Amino acid sequence: MLAGKTALITGSTSGIGLASAHVLAEQGINLVLHGLMDNDEGARLAQEFSDKYQIKTLFDNANLMDSNAISAFMKRAIQTMGSIDILINNAGIQHTEAVDTFPEDKWHAIMAINLTAAFHTIQHSLAGMKENSWGRIINIASVHGLVASKNKAAYCAAKHGLVGLTKVVALECAEHGITANAICPGWVDTPLINEQITDIANKENSSFEQAKYQLITAKQPLPEMMDPRQIGEFILFLCSDSARSITGSSLPMDGAWTAQ
Ligand SMILES: NC(=O)c1ccc[n+]([C@@H]2O[C@H](COP(=O)([O-])OP(=O)(O)OC[C@H]3O[C@@H](n4cnc5c(N)ncnc54)[C@H](O)[C@@H]3O)[C@@H](O)[C@H]2O)c1
Repeated sequence: MLAGKTALITGSTSGIGLASAHVLAEQGINLVLHGLMDNDEGARLAQEFSDKYQIKTLFDNANLMDSNAISAFMKRAIQTMGSIDILINNAGIQHTEAVDTFPEDKWHAIMAINLTAAFHTIQHSLAGMKENSWGRIINIASVHGLVASKNKAAYCAAKHGLVGLTKVVALECAEHGITANAICPGWVDTPLINEQITDIANKENSSFEQAKYQLITAKQPLPEMMDPRQIGEFILFLCSDSARSITGSSLPMDGAWTAQ
């Protein structure tokens, strides 16, 4: 039974995180919502979830580039909610540029948000999960945790790192009823990729929709973007008892991108 458990989803004010929050809330799972949103707006979002789904919620806007802020966020979340049963490391950013000119500050930001933050949130969550002999850690990696693309040095390095971190956590936690998996999506329809689409549209003098199609089909045989809710539904399955033996896996949801 998942109703009454608590899920913490980093980056749940937008895109995949927000859609997944709705999927989990529909099952009566309490939520720690998080993202770069001001406190009033975040509190309103949390209240909307509480009212709509009759669940307990909390919002926090800790900046994941700051390990002290993550520590304060996790302590507050655990104190308020009891424990974190389901941890979804989802927040992420992107910057595309050739490695020879890739800005150092972007490298560090991508490493901090897309990889190091997951290390910190996992560290804070494990004691409670071990105490309950139950936990689900789901890291939203990417196909770029499995294969590379040009101009994504930091993103690919961070996502490959996240896949490695997931495997180690799975090994160390297997005896405690805790699973750790990475989901590796192809293209998902969210604001994260708008800049890449706009770049193509500007370069090719094409419409946003044409550029979007070009971006998808350059790598992905299935010529459509995923709806972010599909990831939420996969997360829900990984939380179920049927998925208790799935751990340490890096699971592509990528329209056959990595089958090539
Ligand atoms: N959209 C895709 O095609 C795609 C594909 C594969 C993997 N992913 C991964 O999915 C995850 C979610 O991406 P999305 O597409 O929903 O993106 P999004 O831009 O819609 O959402 C990103 C979320 O991360 C939060 N965030 C960003 N920087 C932060 C910071 N410094 N501190 C705290 N929170 C911060 C934002 O507030 C937001 O809630 C990312 O890890 C991304 O790499 C996305």
